[in-house]
Amino acid sequence: MEVKEPVIGAIGLGGESVFLSVDHFHAPGETLRAEGFFMEPGGKAYNQAVAAARLGAKVYFFGAVGSDYGGSLCRDVLEAEGITPVLQTVPDANTAYACILTDRNGENQVTVSRGAADILSPDFLYEQESCIAQCTHLLLGLECPIEATTAALALAKKHGIFTILNPAPAIPLDLDFLRLFDLITPNLQEATVLLGLEHTPEPAELAQLLCNAGLTNAVVTLGSKGSLLITPSQQMLFPALPVTAVDTTGAGDTFNAALAVAISQDQSMAEAIEFATNASAWSVCRNHVLDSLPTANELVVNYRKIIPCSL
Ligand code: RIB
Repeated sequence: MEVKEPVIGAIGLGGESVFLSVDHFHAPGETLRAEGFFMEPGGKAYNQAVAAARLGAKVYFFGAVGSDYGGSLCRDVLEAEGITPVLQTVPDANTAYACILTDRNGENQVTVSRGAADILSPDFLYEQESCIAQCTHLLLGLECPIEATTAALALAKKHGIFTILNPAPAIPLDLDFLRLFDLITPNLQEATVLLGLEHTPEPAELAQLLCNAGLTNAVVTLGSKGSLLITPSQQMLFPALPVTAVDTTGAGDTFNAALAVAISQDQSMAEAIEFATNASAWSVCRNHVLDSLPTANELVVNYRKIIPCSL
């Protein structure tokens, strides 16, 4: 049997992100003065692609951009990071644009104009089948049309590719669809929406619900409370590392990318969560997203062990 070199594909939104730092978030009708301004390329899949590459993986990014400054910026930064961009160019659409407010506590509020990313087409992905087939692991999300994610999943199944669905931003999805992924990685809010729950469950209740749902693997991130690993045979809580967050933007993307890299290197799910927890703890201590993504060497130096406990 042919053994493939680990290659990670991230499929979804890439665009410009503008960061405005504010003291606090708006009250209705309030105008705020921003203390800081910063611009970089971003998007969940885009951040995941860069994070995986920084951690040493070979990476492809699949997305759709307009023929404008944002599109060129996305391509240039991907290439500078050693990532292969596979971009559908949509001439009449703008490249995605996100406005990110960060407050003095390191929390964020994000608004995204998806533009071209909303037009990422299944046909384009099918045309890229030979490229997708080179991937061993695919990071998929919901920041592009669900039809594109479904097409990518079908190609992944055909080529035996491990699939990770980071269901962000969340929409309610059928359990039969969720069961098709090898791993799903919602945060608590996303898990609540995904399962169509009317209240935010306690971790133990959520773990039971996801366990009963018959998913292959689920990792639910709980912010400063850590993360849950839920498989048909285990429900474990992995505590977060004690850090002082300055900017949590992209922490989930960092976590997902690190998880994919560790899994692609044949680490166990528990080892992968420990690696991902270290990576996201590093990123929340730094501002913005791309500047906050660690390299593999940076993580090795600061690596901390995490002891999980049963729920
Ligand atoms: O997860 C953070 C990302 O979400 C930002 O880069 C922004 O672009 C939004 O899509």
